[in-house]
Amino acid sequence: MIVGVVGAGTMGAGIAQVCLQAGHEVLLYDIDDAAIGRGRERVEAGLERGVARGRVPADDAAAARARLRNAHTLDAVAAEADLVIEAALEDIELKRTIFRALDGLARPDAILATNTSALSVGEIAAVTSRPGRVVGLHFFNPAPAMALVEVVAADATAAETVDRAVAFCRGLGKTPVVCADSPGFIVNRVIRPFTLEALRFVDAGEAAIEDVDEAMEAAGYPMGPFRLMDLVGIDVNLAVARSLYAAFDEAPRFRPSPLQSAMVEAGRLGRKTGIGFYRYAADGALGIADLPTTYAPAHPKSGGAAPAARITARIELAIINEAYHAVDEQVAEPPDIDRAMRLGAGHPKGPFERAGDLGLRVVVEGLARLARSHEPDAAGRFTPAEGLWRIATI
Ligand SMILES: NC(=O)c1ccc[n+]([C@@H]2O[C@H](COP(=O)([O-])OP(=O)(O)OC[C@H]3O[C@@H](n4cnc5c(N)ncnc54)[C@H](O)[C@@H]3O)[C@@H](O)[C@H]2O)c1
Repeated sequence: MIVGVVGAGTMGAGIAQVCLQAGHEVLLYDIDDAAIGRGRERVEAGLERGVARGRVPADDAAAARARLRNAHTLDAVAAEADLVIEAALEDIELKRTIFRALDGLARPDAILATNTSALSVGEIAAVTSRPGRVVGLHFFNPAPAMALVEVVAADATAAETVDRAVAFCRGLGKTPVVCADSPGFIVNRVIRPFTLEALRFVDAGEAAIEDVDEAMEAAGYPMGPFRLMDLVGIDVNLAVARSLYAAFDEAPRFRPSPLQSAMVEAGRLGRKTGIGFYRYAADGALGIADLPTTYAPAHPKSGGAAPAARITARIELAIINEAYHAVDEQVAEPPDIDRAMRLGAGHPKGPFERAGDLGLRVVVEGLARLARSHEPDAAGRFTPAEGLWRIATI
């Protein structure tokens, strides 16, 4: 198959590498010619790493490299591609412009896919004459290593397109999970309480940053919420939080944290700036950083020390509740949400598996207790999702 990749940055290069390794030909395009060269270098370095680690035979890597072609115009991509995967910047107008152009140039049977993390696939598809052949293919970073791909079916996406996209992902050796075109899709939505509730513990003076991280890591999560935000970029995490807060009509459970905004305003974005919630040197974390002086906690009497069990219970209950909200809204089925959270977020268990371990009554009673607590907005934040309430009270 010939795959066109539009945008040769972090994701475009990773996706190109995955496609090449699966035996596809790839046409790599970027509006910035130099970025195509850098993307190619990144693909080649990725293939070389695979060879060095014994995961990719040297002959296969050479053959993969030979299947990569630079494309200097969008026409050159569209003229040949069976599937185009757009991985340009996260800007709706930019993506709509690209899709309008692709639609005019690509073969009528070609599938046009977007790797958007948070934009509406339907709004992008609407500018084309073939919304039935437009789909979201949400790869995770780093694409060569992450097994999950969220296959986002917008209202107008044809069932056949979804089937073809699923088969394509399987052919890449990935695990596709189909979901609806809803804000944050599965992972970016269901994972929200992982960082938001963590931030609220600190904001309310109930727990220290390292205590929250230690509690979650001891519970089997690969990285505590603050270490995770430092890795992803506090600015990136805040942007997602803000976009979901807006998309969910400012529902209290999505309210971004003032601590996060203060960090971003102070330029403390995490590892990439050498300081976030922790301080970093080239060879790793150096320890906890002081909070910015501009940050005024909601409850200045800090120094609280919530026990680890209270921290993990609250964060996990909020994640379970969000997963039930997603099912209520028909974003995806529970087994798919579980799979997505294990593979896309590295959680030790999916939220429905965790709820099963705890027992649904315990989950609902725990949420009800949290809703009655003194936490700001607690009532709105922890109200059990309708479907959860229904099942638990049968
Ligand atoms: N980085 C992640 O963790 C991640 C994960 C999943 C999805 N995404 C999504 O993938 C997309 C790309 O993200 P990224 O991190 O690779 O960004 P990036 O900044 O690394 O790369 C984007 C590339 O797109 C190019 N570009 C800009 N306008 C273009 C145009 N009109 N035509 C062709 N190319 C154009 C840029 O020159 C740049 O090389 C975004 O929509 C992002 O939300 C990112």
